Amino acid sequence: MNIILIGFMGSGKSAVGQKLAKELTLDYLDTDQLIEKTEKMSINEIFTRKGESSFRDLETNVIKTLRDYDNFVISTGGGMVLRPENVKMLKEIGLLVLLWAEPEVIYQRVKSETRRPLLKVADPLAEINKILGQRGPIYSQVADHKVDTSKLSVEAIVAEVKEWLESK
Ligand code: S3P
Repeated sequence: MNIILIGFMGSGKSAVGQKLAKELTLDYLDTDQLIEKTEKMSINEIFTRKGESSFRDLETNVIKTLRDYDNFVISTGGGMVLRPENVKMLKEIGLLVLLWAEPEVIYQRVKSETRRPLLKVADPLAEINKILGQRGPIYSQVADHKVDTSKLSVEAIVAEVKEWLESK
């Protein structure tokens, strides 16, 4: 069984995933990193040169390669669960833990970063509100567990997820 972190950009999937994997002595994998490695391009370059829909195909392809993976914490890109076929495949290999955060908190976390093509717009906060408004119900619907990370440290989020796993 794997633990799969889903949620919006800036919700802490990478930081939490790495720490959680360490504490549970599991391996760690990040689907964006895997895509960048296979494509030999950054996510930004993939969006610019191939377009978003090609990137979404790459996301689906990457999950297909994870079918035999076990005992991993897997961080996914924020749009990974938008395709029902991706959700179906992810649920076959693990539990989906949603890291949630309020739009303003996300904005504060991502505003100085440049590696997210979807937020390279004139008004990133408005964009976060818009996309989160569309995705929020999907995230909640597919998640097996949800953690509101808005006011929590990475350590506290990891502790919360561990507590949930132990209670299962
Ligand atoms: C995206 C999130 C990014 C990355 C790509 C698209 C999204 O990952 O996959 O820029 O659609 O929300 P993070 O959630 O790790 O930033």
